[in-house]
Amino acid sequence: GHAEFGGGPADPVHGGHAGHGWDGPPRQLGDRDVTGLTGPRDRPPDVAVELVAARDGDRYTLNGTTPGPELRVRQGDLVEVTLVNESVPDGVTLHWHGVDVPNAEDGVAGVTQDAVATGGSHTYRFVAEDAGTYWYHSHQVSHAQVRGGLFGTLVVTPPAGEAADHDVVAAMHTYGDGPTVNGRDGLRVDAAPGEAVRLRLVNTDNEVKRAWTADAPVRVLAVDGRAVHEPVPVTDAAVTLPAGGRVDLGFTVPAAGTAVRVELGGVAVVTGPAGAPDPPESEPPAETVDLLHYGTPAPLGFDPDDADRTFEYRIGRRFGLVDGRPGMYWTINGGMVPDVPMFVVSDGDVVRMRIENSGADNHPMHLHGHHAVVLSRDGEPATGSPWVVDSLDVGRDETYEIAFVADNPGIWLDHCHDLSHATAGLVAHLVYS
Ligand code: C2O
Ligand code: CU
Repeated sequence: GHAEFGGGPADPVHGGHAGHGWDGPPRQLGDRDVTGLTGPRDRPPDVAVELVAARDGDRYTLNGTTPGPELRVRQGDLVEVTLVNESVPDGVTLHWHGVDVPNAEDGVAGVTQDAVATGGSHTYRFVAEDAGTYWYHSHQVSHAQVRGGLFGTLVVTPPAGEAADHDVVAAMHTYGDGPTVNGRDGLRVDAAPGEAVRLRLVNTDNEVKRAWTADAPVRVLAVDGRAVHEPVPVTDAAVTLPAGGRVDLGFTVPAAGTAVRVELGGVAVVTGPAGAPDPPESEPPAETVDLLHYGTPAPLGFDPDDADRTFEYRIGRRFGLVDGRPGMYWTINGGMVPDVPMFVVSDGDVVRMRIENSGADNHPMHLHGHHAVVLSRDGEPATGSPWVVDSLDVGRDETYEIAFVADNPGIWLDHCHDLSHATAGLVAHLVYS
């Protein structure tokens, strides 16, 4: 059980509660010092940002906007973010989704810190070790706060070289009134013929998203902040993004001077010469890029066949009572919250996990603090570039095998990023002994 961490079962995804009442007040854990595993605090930061969180009805903002500011830092920078809670009554945190930060910087209310109460602040520090596309969001009452806009994007750029002529972030988010990109109803980027574009897609919603274009061949340059090895250009195929997932697309503005319209499902990003007409909206292609077989293999740096630990993460659903409330709840390995597994590892372990979803819905599984490589889907081995993820959509009746190296000590969540599912119990913990 969770008891050895003190304070009883937490409900970290939506903030936890007194007891584990699913409708209870947000939880403050008081004086818990979980790990002491923090980012460097002995030198000045390279980048310092203040983010002020506010709530206005169902809408949440950071520094007055949603999404919050796009943060761009260089690989190797020591990043300092001071979160100030101006007016979010339930409290707020920031989780650095996909950034493998030290545990105490992970921003999970009830696990790695207390939620920041109104009038309070909290300072995060971490080194941006890995170039890539990430995002940040509140991890307190997150099913409401993230949906309501309490998030932003984070790009870590490589120190030199590799840069595209245009490097654009597109956060896909559905507010109450429909799909948006970067909070707007569309994005237009001026780019000359022949110029290279890197489009960093971020899915901040609870549902799977598809993106595609009919106007140029595209490459999948990176997934979840990790480069794809030798990506080949594809045409007439969509890419999918699980909830929380990121995909970097690369393409070239056509020499003919036409624009490229990337469809994001109800909104689009149009890139091309100023004055070039918007291409017509295109139909979703039948094909989808299958990352299990995309790109070419490269060494993993560890041997998943020589695992120190093997875990099952079997997702089901059944009727039950949680705090006396009858309903259908998600189960993990047959157990219903709070009786869900704690996966115990030691530093340096090679870990294999089999995630099995027996029906009812798809589950975008998100592992904090680590990246995992996908080994197989329904027994079919991966044959492409190492498909490295922190967010993996496990569809109905699908089974994935993943592997990772346990190299980031602490207490980490491994949960469904359909945040309504997380609220209904689809949360396990990865714990270092
Ligand atoms: Cu993006 Cu536990 O979250
Ligand atoms: Cu789910």
